[in-house]
Amino acid sequence: MTYFFILGNNPTLSIAEIINVLSKQIVKIEKLSSEVLLIKLSGKVSVLELQNQLGGTIKIGQTVDQVNLNSFSDLVDKIWQNLPKNLSNLYFGLSTYYLGGQKRDISRKLKKAALEVKARLKKQGIACRWVESKEKVLSSVILQKNKLLSSGTEIVFLIDNNKCYIGKTLSCQSFKNYVLKDFGRPDRIIEKGMIPPKLGQIMLNLSRDPSFSLEKTLILDPFCGSGTILQEALLMGFKSIIGTDKNKRAIVSAQKNLEWLVQNIKQSLGGVRIFYSDVRKISKKIRAKSVGAIVTEPYLGPLKFSSSECSFIIRELGQLYLSAFEQFSIILKTNRKVVIIFPIFRIRNKQYFLPILDKLKNQGWQIQSPIPHSLLKSSVIKITKRESIIYSRPGQKVLREILIFKKA
Ligand SMILES: C[S@@+](CC[C@H](N)C(=O)[O-])C[C@H]1O[C@@H](n2cnc3c(N)ncnc32)[C@H](O)[C@@H]1O
Repeated sequence: MTYFFILGNNPTLSIAEIINVLSKQIVKIEKLSSEVLLIKLSGKVSVLELQNQLGGTIKIGQTVDQVNLNSFSDLVDKIWQNLPKNLSNLYFGLSTYYLGGQKRDISRKLKKAALEVKARLKKQGIACRWVESKEKVLSSVILQKNKLLSSGTEIVFLIDNNKCYIGKTLSCQSFKNYVLKDFGRPDRIIEKGMIPPKLGQIMLNLSRDPSFSLEKTLILDPFCGSGTILQEALLMGFKSIIGTDKNKRAIVSAQKNLEWLVQNIKQSLGGVRIFYSDVRKISKKIRAKSVGAIVTEPYLGPLKFSSSECSFIIRELGQLYLSAFEQFSIILKTNRKVVIIFPIFRIRNKQYFLPILDKLKNQGWQIQSPIPHSLLKSSVIKITKRESIIYSRPGQKVLREILIFKKA
């Protein structure tokens, strides 16, 4: 079966996550663009489960047919064929995504076709509503508010040059859950910087490897702050999670947030442990070779800084990170991953990275590409020379660099 994945606002990160989670089931990567990944998958796919699991995917669906966009009657027929007719009040929506080639605006054509389909449905006595949007796509908020996936359908048009696939959306990201998880938490330490929950979820998915097991893998966030990564690990179903921080206020905050999560979203706190530790001494508190994966956003430096302070900050952070990795060598099992964020400082449009990769290589760490080498040539994939992915928002002075390390 061929599935389409509508990608989030960092397509490279979304693709890396999907490929890492589905690795065993991927038969062929058919096509990718900055909006869509089209893949042939084998075996049974539980789309709803997969959707909840992925932080970087907005919608998942299946391709069902192709349509000739130059034939109006074909367009109307294909929409008609793909609508469920057994609903007393049918809601339907249409979205367009680009898979490749020239970007064609088909909105007027689609509007005309939708009106024709509405008229046909009416003739057959089926009440219907066509859910329109000013954009070429219906957002997941519109899909959910209009119950399009439960009491109707969304048909998507995936345009690839002169070809156009038709797909049906099977699931979309729950915007309510993310709003609740991000803004509903009782203790948000904004001044320490909070990682967006979706990014935490993606990083946890990137930490998976063949030995991964929700039951057995011990996940560690040694800079847990207010506990966003711990929260995502718990929601993902990990049974063994440790969060540590050297700030006592952060420990209290993470505990409060997780208790809130247990009451509001998830039943049991299970095996989460949160305690005080300076990362530079963490091997005194955690057994050697016991951790299955480290997923973390460390201290990224002050939010405000002048350009003259920058080199000092980079040097200090470099030392902290190198000490942290020395400790990771002791507590992490061999060949397991550290998925970590490094800061990138932007000063007058120049980016300054932490210059510690050579020293980490000397410690025996290897960088893992988050994307298979076969895809690196695609213009959609944005990977740095350091084999990292940059995650940023416009105007940010400190950008996030996502890196994956392993040590044999
Ligand atoms: C960027 S915050 C983590 C944010 C967290 N991911 C969240 O969303 O809440 C970094 C955390 O690192 C902690 N930290 C700084 N230096 C540390 C050290 N040497 N050992 C352990 N934790 C440290 C700070 O107290 C802070 O809570």
